[in-house]
Amino acid sequence: MEHFKLVHPEILSSNGLLPWRTSTKPISEINPIGSMISEDESRYLYWLVKEYFTNCGAIVDLGPLAGGSTYSLALGLDEGGHKSSEPVIHSYDLWQFWDDWGRFFPGKSFSHLEDISGVFLENLGTLSRLVVPHKGNICEATWNDSPIEILFVDVAKSPETMERIVNEFYPALIPGHSIVIHQDFISAECPWIHAIQESLSSYFELVDSPDDSSVCFRLIRKIPKGVLGKNFYNLLSVNEGDALMISASSHLKGWYKLCVLAARAHFHVLRGDVDLGLSILDEIVLSPDYDVKIDYDVLLVKHAIG
Ligand SMILES: C[S@@+](CC[C@H](N)C(=O)[O-])C[C@H]1O[C@@H](n2cnc3c(N)ncnc32)[C@H](O)[C@@H]1O
Repeated sequence: MEHFKLVHPEILSSNGLLPWRTSTKPISEINPIGSMISEDESRYLYWLVKEYFTNCGAIVDLGPLAGGSTYSLALGLDEGGHKSSEPVIHSYDLWQFWDDWGRFFPGKSFSHLEDISGVFLENLGTLSRLVVPHKGNICEATWNDSPIEILFVDVAKSPETMERIVNEFYPALIPGHSIVIHQDFISAECPWIHAIQESLSSYFELVDSPDDSSVCFRLIRKIPKGVLGKNFYNLLSVNEGDALMISASSHLKGWYKLCVLAARAHFHVLRGDVDLGLSILDEIVLSPDYDVKIDYDVLLVKHAIG
């Protein structure tokens, strides 16, 4: 199973296979929207809601941009036959256009920072009836404390956003059931995701994850409110942060693991230790698990060095 990167094959599937890959539905039906997530990630979101979701909590979709993740989640909800008097999916985004996003909005033209929330809803078509959009900065987002079954995170682009997500949304996750999907985990870009998620490792277990950048976690015990102190990530010592990054990488295999080690290199570069960052990158490139797929992340860290 080439792309099988984790861990407990029995957790989300009784027979140990990766069930979201068995559907013959064309991807153009599962995610017809311009999107940065992969086909396997779209299929996973669709399958997770259709087959795993039980309608005992909400689906929270953080950072959907044009609505690709939302569409896959909503289609799974629709086809799963879940009935609810209120929309179940809550999507959060700034919905402000950035200049290089034109490819995700074919046939449209926007100016920098223009409001794109209307196109998000338009893209969903009739599935928009299942979705509540929350436009604004996630650092100011609030959750109403009702249970969350599925939390898709593609918005933790700064330590502050990750900390807000943990302190505001994680306490609503349901022990033994809720799934958190971190879309930027197989990536060097956001080392705070690995450090913070690993600091919470006693609350989660890893579960089978779709191929590309996502790693999925299932909650095993309730997370208290305010579990992360203010400015948690920036106050980590270098040694604490390094230990968390190494520990986060240890759960993964092959080039996926190397990618988290590239995030470790990024952590050290951001903390000012360029030499250590470069030596970690050297080890990655010489590793027997090296794959060209990791070059993007190695370059990303080199660009951060300048
Ligand atoms: C990588 S894109 C998401 C791509 C999307 N999941 C897809 O499938 O194409 C990150 C998204 O996070 C949103 N975002 C970034 N920072 C944010 C913030 N502080 N608050 C709310 N949304 C934010 C951006 O507007 C963007 O839509």
